[in-house]
Order: sequence, then structure tokens, then C-alpha cells
Amino acid sequence: MTKKIGVLVGSLRKDSNSELVAKSAIDLLPEGYEGEILEIGHLPFYNQDHDKDSPQEFVEFRDKVKGVDAILFVTPEYNRSVPAVLKNAIDLGSRPWGESVWGGKPAAVFSSSTGAIGGFGATHHLRQSLAFLDMPLMGQPEVYLGNFMDSLDESGKLDERTTEFLKDAVDAFVAHIEKHLN
Ligand code: FNR
Repeated sequence: MTKKIGVLVGSLRKDSNSELVAKSAIDLLPEGYEGEILEIGHLPFYNQDHDKDSPQEFVEFRDKVKGVDAILFVTPEYNRSVPAVLKNAIDLGSRPWGESVWGGKPAAVFSSSTGAIGGFGATHHLRQSLAFLDMPLMGQPEVYLGNFMDSLDESGKLDERTTEFLKDAVDAFVAHIEKHLN
């Protein structure tokens, strides 16, 4: 049966670099796998009152996460950390207490930046939350796409070198998923 990967993108920007990485990663999935970007930009800000009465958007988002086998996070770094829109999605998926949709789902984090550090800070703040949420995390390879604009070809797509690197990371993630789901 085809395995499904839900992809969460930490940028809502039109022409987002993260979205390009996410779509490229989906295109690189092998046979037997499919990826879908799970939208997060429309989700209201979570607060604990929502645990008693969840907005419909939360119910639908949680159901979508429950319906996938694994999660790929693709994110930029905002002020050395995780963009708020992505943290909000993680928080609302983790509640009500005891009903988290994240636990046990294999996960990987790919970050990118126009700067040199490639989103290292975002990746590691994210990893802190995902470890707590009991998501088996891919350790290697680490994916920090720094100086991102240098990774594009003339048509604005990922260049060959970056695509090869991403393909290796996607293959490693698939192997990680196989290990944890079987
Ligand atoms: C950034 N950017 C950034 N880059 C970085 O390497 N470290 C950082 O801490 C930050 N902080 C930061 C804060 C805010 C509010 C913005 C808007 C941007 C730059 C950012 O990583 C870069 O613009 C990415 O290319 C944005 O990703 P998307 O939107 O193209 O996916």
C-alpha cells in the first residue's frame, strides 16, 4: 500500500524557498510513496480554550495528520527559531492533552536560508519539540540548505547538485520511515 507523507511548510510566502524545497522533495519520492503539503496558514492561533471546543479547521487538520504515515517539516528560520505559523500547527496538533496526533510518526526536518547557517537554529528548536512529542526523528543526513539563492538554476528550480543532495536526504527519510513503521 502506498505510504503517505504529510509535508508541513513553515513559510506562507508566495514563491517561498521552503515551498520549493517541499515540492521538490515530494517529486523525488520513490514509488510506493506519495507526499502532500498539509496547509497550515488558515489555522487560527491555538489557545487552551480550544480544547473544549475546537474550531473546525483544527479538527480537519488533526484528521489530515492522523491520515499520513510520516511528517516532513520544511522550514525557514525566523530569528534563530521556528516560524510562528509552524509552531502553532505543532501546538494545536498536540492537544487536547493525551490526544496528540504527532506521537510515533517518523519525522525529518529540512531547513533553508538565504543566509549561511541554513536554518540550523530553526531545525534544532523544532527538533526539541518533536522529540518531546515522541516523533522518531531522522538524525542523518542533516539538511541545512544555506545560501539558498546559489542553489537555483537559471529557471529558478533547484540546481543539479542540490537536487542530488535532496534526493539522498529523501531516500534516507524513506529508509527511516520503513525502519520505524515495520
Ligand atoms: C528571516 N531570515 C532569517 N534567516 C536566517 O538564516 N536566520 C534567521 O534567524 C532569520 N530570521 C528571519 C526573520 C524573519 C522575520 C524573516 C522574514 C526572515 C531570512 C529567511 O530565512 C529567508 O528569507 C528565507 O528564505 C525565508 O524562507 P521562505 O519564505 O523563502 O521559505
